[in-house]
Amino acid sequence: MNVMIEATKLTKVYQMGDEQVHALRGVSFAVQKKDFIAIMGPSGSGKSTMLHIIGCLDRPTAGELFIEGLNVQEAGGNKLAEIRNQKIGFVFQNFNLMAKATAVENVELPLIYAGIRKRERRQRALAALERVGLSDRIKHRPPELSGGQRQRVAIARAMVTEPAFILADEPTGALDTTTSGQILDLFAELNDEGNTVILITHDPTVAQRTHRIIELLDGRITRDSSRNGVGA
Ligand SMILES: Nc1ncnc2c1ncn2[C@@H]1O[C@H](COP(=O)(O)OP(=O)(O)OP(=O)(O)O)[C@@H](O)[C@H]1O
Ligand SMILES: [Mg+2]
Repeated sequence: MNVMIEATKLTKVYQMGDEQVHALRGVSFAVQKKDFIAIMGPSGSGKSTMLHIIGCLDRPTAGELFIEGLNVQEAGGNKLAEIRNQKIGFVFQNFNLMAKATAVENVELPLIYAGIRKRERRQRALAALERVGLSDRIKHRPPELSGGQRQRVAIARAMVTEPAFILADEPTGALDTTTSGQILDLFAELNDEGNTVILITHDPTVAQRTHRIIELLDGRITRDSSRNGVGA
């Protein structure tokens, strides 16, 4: 089975006092395994909301979501957390690393949650750091690393659990052009190796590096390059 994610008519309504904010207004799409996708759209168009829903960090108000054939709607809170921890690797704009922990300790963290024993944890974290080219920085703490290096640590942390797919919210938003290009090279390599990568970006040059662009406007998909037309 080659379908990684199937979303049907996802809606998200935030209740703000008396007011309702329609962040997603019926979004349908499928993600195939090994896809490399950019989600684009202006501020407030619903990108982060969509990422939080497909990342199982939040639930839609209505609609259906399947991840590797698993019905996410039917999953209870514990099951949802399990899907999130086992299947999804997150990368954020501001890295979200623990400042007081070393690079290797940061990468080990999700393996602690997964109940992996110490020796295996260390081996896998070191291998992930090697994969992102940081073998010479394993003892450094985030404040002792450059922005690009911090994002590499975050990518190693996202990869170390061998997730089904990677979700990145503006992963190059805090980086200069050169560093941003290097981080995209890394995502492209990870995708070449068979990983499914979905990233959010404002930057058309970042989006051009992916294989498929989904554009959101006011909670709707207005373009999906894999469909060559207007979406649902
Ligand atoms: N927790 C929340 N409570 C209420 N409204 C929210 C909440 N989160 C987002 N919204 C609203 O939903 C809409 C979509 O927000 P979202 O964060 O998904 O946009 P975005 O496309 O990620 O924007 P940006 O590019 O600025 O990050 C916006 O109108 C926003 O104000
Ligand atoms: Mg956002």
